[in-house]
Amino acid sequence: MCGIVGYIGHQAAGPILLEGLQRLEYRGYDSSGIAVVDRDGALAVLKRQGKLRDLQAAITEMPAGAAGIGHTRWATHGEPSDRNAHPHASSAGDVIVVQNGIVENYRELKAELQETLDTEGRTWQSDTDTEVIPELISRELAMGRSFEAALAYAIGRLNGANAIAAVHRTDPGRIYAARTGSAGGIVIGYGEGEMFIASDLPALLPHTTTVYHLDDGDIATITADDLRVRRSDHASIRPEPRQVDLDPVAIARGPYRHFMLKEIHEQPRALSDTIRGRARLDPASALPDDLSISDETLRSIDRVLVIGMGTSLHAAMIGRWWMEQIAGIPADFDNASEFRFRAPLLGPSTLVVAVTQSGETIDTLGAMKHVRDRWGAPQVVITNVEGSEATRQADASIIMRCGPEVGVASTKTFVGSLAALYLLACRIGRVQGRLSDDDLSTRLEQLLTAPSLVDRGIQRGERCAEIAQRFGSAANFLVLGRGIEHPLAMEAALKCKEISYVHAEGYAAGEMKHGPIALLDQDFPVIALAPRGPLFDKMTSAIQQVSARRAPVIAIGDEGDEELIDLVDHFIGIPPAPPLLTPFSLTPVIQLLAYHIALARGLDIDQPRNLAKTVTVE
Ligand code: M6R
Repeated sequence: MCGIVGYIGHQAAGPILLEGLQRLEYRGYDSSGIAVVDRDGALAVLKRQGKLRDLQAAITEMPAGAAGIGHTRWATHGEPSDRNAHPHASSAGDVIVVQNGIVENYRELKAELQETLDTEGRTWQSDTDTEVIPELISRELAMGRSFEAALAYAIGRLNGANAIAAVHRTDPGRIYAARTGSAGGIVIGYGEGEMFIASDLPALLPHTTTVYHLDDGDIATITADDLRVRRSDHASIRPEPRQVDLDPVAIARGPYRHFMLKEIHEQPRALSDTIRGRARLDPASALPDDLSISDETLRSIDRVLVIGMGTSLHAAMIGRWWMEQIAGIPADFDNASEFRFRAPLLGPSTLVVAVTQSGETIDTLGAMKHVRDRWGAPQVVITNVEGSEATRQADASIIMRCGPEVGVASTKTFVGSLAALYLLACRIGRVQGRLSDDDLSTRLEQLLTAPSLVDRGIQRGERCAEIAQRFGSAANFLVLGRGIEHPLAMEAALKCKEISYVHAEGYAAGEMKHGPIALLDQDFPVIALAPRGPLFDKMTSAIQQVSARRAPVIAIGDEGDEELIDLVDHFIGIPPAPPLLTPFSLTPVIQLLAYHIALARGLDIDQPRNLAKTVTVE
């Protein structure tokens, strides 16, 4: 949540900061701002409520100066407004800060700092928690500390997880960054005579692929050609940068109207890349090389718990099915934000699998920390971001290879996490001796058809657009599924809510008659996920019950399924898939339905209101 950028070098900082913010706007987009200092210590702070384009439109003259910081905001404390937009300056105007996170003890710090402000006849300039940070640093500077020491002191006083970047008005030759807790990453990019700060790689890719990720507790002092890091143990180091293997083209929208549509179309490729080398058929093996958790540990587990949030939670629910049905092991799923406040009984024989495309979601990281501190249970993370905080916390990582996902709605990373969960289930089943070589081979062969199942589902885009035209103005949808399709019903409803702003509920079809059926009438469309499988007849019974209440039924089922076609009002055909593989054939259709409903309603699909791609605050 919130995007941070910084620049110092031989070019004008302003345009580089704005371009970086554009690439990070998916992290928050209710206001934005930049601060630039020039060699003489002249400071320009420009900020605006609204999208980045509102800030750009308001800039009549680009500030001079080759050092600066910028921010794109997702409001936590204080409504979106010019006043609350970052950067924020100390009341003396000497320290300027942008922040991602929450200062949980900001009230206490404000009270402590109030006396200084009163003495100086100054007042707070915003309603944010952020402002205490520059004020704390400024107070320490006034007492003769170096900027680095003042920043370290301030960071040490903050409760909560925070990432910040800062400039010191009277020292335009340096910019600073710091990280405390799991508040989203800070990456430093190395150029030729210039250096960059960003919350995430997409802002850096056009400039450099040589990077260093700050760790929890790190304070970075950055000049145009050097980076020094003071670690949490106060040791000062010159860090070793690493190369990232990402193509800047991956973050371009190309010919697609929206990133979401582009990323839906990238799913077959994302799946193939994620599976490549991890599903060997002869001899059969799953995840042969890259799971740094020993077979001995996998052999010793007697239960799997899969956790996540949002779309990743729906992947976790599907993962449970595969753990039970493929690995043959007791399994459960849990909402990460709730899990850590319950008192579940785990132990070293439970394997915890955390699903998080960003690797930064604070609820999931909190649950992982809880698992480690309280039970010491082994943990595997499934994520799309190598080097993310979740990979540091877990014992082992399965990295999806989906490429950067820019649209706020998770699409290709959903199928990427499904592939990883399926492979993990196969590995556990084989190691524990419940899957024979032949069974494993069959399971993996089926998985290898997933990219083509997704591809054929994507071909139904036009039909989804027709249905969206017909039902685009509906106020509600009920989405029904059974078995492994139940989590997909929930995912379909989430997609409708988040990008189409339509109230939608995803229900297990068997549950419908226990309450939700009271809602149904001719104005309440029902989407039924009904591919052929063991629960098909039960699903058609539910459809009959819906039709009897005159609610229009849109069924998504196997291509040419005449029995289903006769039963329902509208039909979208998907390729028939083996029973445990239907998540792959259904996913693109539920995504495209939500996409086209949002399009029909003229909504901002890649940046839906109130949301941000990476949720780094509680
Ligand atoms: O990065 P994560 O996978 O941990 O994110 C979890 C959720 O915030 C995320 O899936 C969210 O629900 C998406 N916007 C759904 O499209």
